[in-house]
Amino acid sequence: MTSSNITKKFDEQLLESNDLVGSEPSSSLKGRTALITGSSQGLGRAMAIRLAGEGCNVAINHLGGGRLAKNVVDLIQNAGGKAAEFEADISDEEAVSDLFSAIQHAYGAVDILINNARLDPWRRSADMTEGQWWDMVMKVNLKGAYLSSWKFMQQIGDRRWGRIVNISSVRSFVPAERNMIAYGVSKLGMHGLTRSFAEWGAPLGVTVNTVAPGVVATENIHKRLSAEKYASEISRVPIGRASSMDEIANAVLFVLQNGSVTGETVNINGGMHYPA
Ligand SMILES: NC(=O)c1ccc[n+]([C@@H]2O[C@H](COP(=O)([O-])OP(=O)(O)OC[C@H]3O[C@@H](n4cnc5c(N)ncnc54)[C@H](OP(=O)(O)O)[C@@H]3O)[C@@H](O)[C@H]2O)c1
Repeated sequence: MTSSNITKKFDEQLLESNDLVGSEPSSSLKGRTALITGSSQGLGRAMAIRLAGEGCNVAINHLGGGRLAKNVVDLIQNAGGKAAEFEADISDEEAVSDLFSAIQHAYGAVDILINNARLDPWRRSADMTEGQWWDMVMKVNLKGAYLSSWKFMQQIGDRRWGRIVNISSVRSFVPAERNMIAYGVSKLGMHGLTRSFAEWGAPLGVTVNTVAPGVVATENIHKRLSAEKYASEISRVPIGRASSMDEIANAVLFVLQNGSVTGETVNINGGMHYPA
């Protein structure tokens, strides 16, 4: 038997066993509409490009980063993909509602929501009180993901296929430095969102998962961290390096393409934290 015959035989058997598990539609993402919050730069940008490569219609969301968002849209469109830019503050309920309506108008309902936008934890100004900082962080990182997920569920209808991915952080599991406490707590809260929305979504064909990166080498990392701070961050990573944006995007693709993974967390942190 040649290897192609073996593959064919195996495929036939797989098809038979697929009949047993029912009707989860294809794992292909082609033609799906994906909203990635905060995708003008960094990891959001990388995930948007990957999803466009998989044939998704990609909604690039940002808050005031219009020039960067336009660059992402141009890059995807010039490569033959589909993308459009949507400015919206995801911590504002009305803006989230308008965002989903605008995407619906452009592409149809949203099939994939990636809650990625976050308040840059290095952006705190010196005159901000602890209370002001806490409120701002929770508003964008947690309330934004909650509002977007809720709106997503309201528009899912009877399509029997949907995906939410919450981008959390290893900082939700390990004790945070003092300036990162609010950020770490907001990211831990996302795991609570994952569990509850997973329960809501399961009968509707909607999976909800968390991807929790450690240190990621985004294009912005050296704008935020001095060489010394970066070296000290990396010294806490047992594999001795940051994760690439591609490694994180691969994990996102895994949960998007696997309809039986839900309520889970995929940790990609180079050994910074071993969950039970
Ligand atoms: N980078 C890392 O090492 C790392 C590690 C662990 C986890 N993560 C997580 O990975 C995700 C991406 O991180 P990143 O470093 O790539 O992010 P980033 O470079 O800080 O980008 C944040 C994005 O969020 C957008 N944004 C901020 N506030 C918003 C709002 N109210 N409404 C809509 N969009 C808003 C920004 O838009 P504008 O450009 O318009 O401001 C930007 O596109 C985050 O959830 C982060 O917590 C990152």
